Amino acid sequence: MRERWTTRVGLILALAGNAVGLGNFLRFPRQAAENGGGAFMIPYFVCLLAIGIPLLWLECGMGRYGGRRGHGHTAGMFHVIWRHPAAKYLGTLGIFIPFVVATYYVYVESWCLAYALFATTGRLAEVAEPGKIQAFLAGYQGLERNEHFEGIGVAYAVFVVTFLINLAVLRGGIARGIERLALTAMPLLFLVGICLTLRVLTLSPPAEAGPGHGVLDGLGFIWNPDPRALLDAGVWLAAAGQVLFTLSVGWGIVHTYASYMRPDDDVVLTGLSSASLNEFAEVILGGTIALTAAVVFFGVVGAKSIAAGGSFDLAFQSMPLVLFSLPAGGLFATLWFLLLFLAGLTSSVALLQPLVALLEESFSLTRDRAVGLAGAATFVGAQPVIFGLGYGWMDQLDFWVGSMALI
Ligand code: PFF
Repeated sequence: MRERWTTRVGLILALAGNAVGLGNFLRFPRQAAENGGGAFMIPYFVCLLAIGIPLLWLECGMGRYGGRRGHGHTAGMFHVIWRHPAAKYLGTLGIFIPFVVATYYVYVESWCLAYALFATTGRLAEVAEPGKIQAFLAGYQGLERNEHFEGIGVAYAVFVVTFLINLAVLRGGIARGIERLALTAMPLLFLVGICLTLRVLTLSPPAEAGPGHGVLDGLGFIWNPDPRALLDAGVWLAAAGQVLFTLSVGWGIVHTYASYMRPDDDVVLTGLSSASLNEFAEVILGGTIALTAAVVFFGVVGAKSIAAGGSFDLAFQSMPLVLFSLPAGGLFATLWFLLLFLAGLTSSVALLQPLVALLEESFSLTRDRAVGLAGAATFVGAQPVIFGLGYGWMDQLDFWVGSMALI
């Protein structure tokens, strides 16, 4: 007897947990700001309705069908759907891509956990100044030895802890592991996200700041429409890419989660509900927090250069600078990194589950063994990411697997 989601809410929150990830809070605001602001939302919603949601339904339907025939991974599912020798091999992409992404995703997730701890203990408050915060991150990542860190030891230890948390959830299985996590982590994530959004909307610019540093300037930076963007094919491509990324479609993961649905679980309603939760997290929370805060403190020009510096600079450097300049900054910084950590954790267990399902079903391993083996493989795969960060190993994987193989 295959495992099943025990409640409908659990299923919806698990699917939403998979979809709501670092992309909602870091990737989306950058894409919107760089691609026409408010006008970006027109191609974004067109792609959401025309490509994203239909694909989500399709993947849920295929997954539920495959699950009834005992398959929880795309290699098995594609084989029963399309009886062609190539089907199985095509389906292995739905296991391979999430596995490779997991080798670096869990590491980034562990930075969020570490920074939440640094924020709580006051360590981050000591380095929350321009200059220092950058050296702190580079020291933490082992890119340089400095007065903040002797080497990569702390980062490695937190990575191991994060990794073990992921394995503990997976060992619990679908209902007692992933579903239980979603039922607690997702409401907490929304609560934290709403608190941060309200705080950002009531920010006032630093005393020395000139004009152009208000909350409305921040919202305008992301949302003022530039209609020229509508004629730009690149913008449409960016919108389509963001939709696939944020809904986690095209990865094989929705198939896996849906394979644990009951035969009478509603594909349309489940898909729509989890997509709606994801869009709330993305457009309302993600579209307000990080970049608006950056504009209030650094102005539009500063925020632009921060956004161009990449998602990690925004998350691990600019946001702490902003949050620590507020009263109760430690609390808000803790909430920010907790938000990212919860978003990451509910996505990383999803990345690992297809491989676990393959090992359980196709190699008849017990769940513990399957989780152990999948964990060992991911752990080995993570080593070059951790030690080769300075050589761009993570960026290479993200490009070849996260972008090319995905397409
Ligand atoms: N949808 C996630 C995000 O927006 O961050 C990214 C992602 C996570 C995709 C997990 C796929 C996945 F399995």
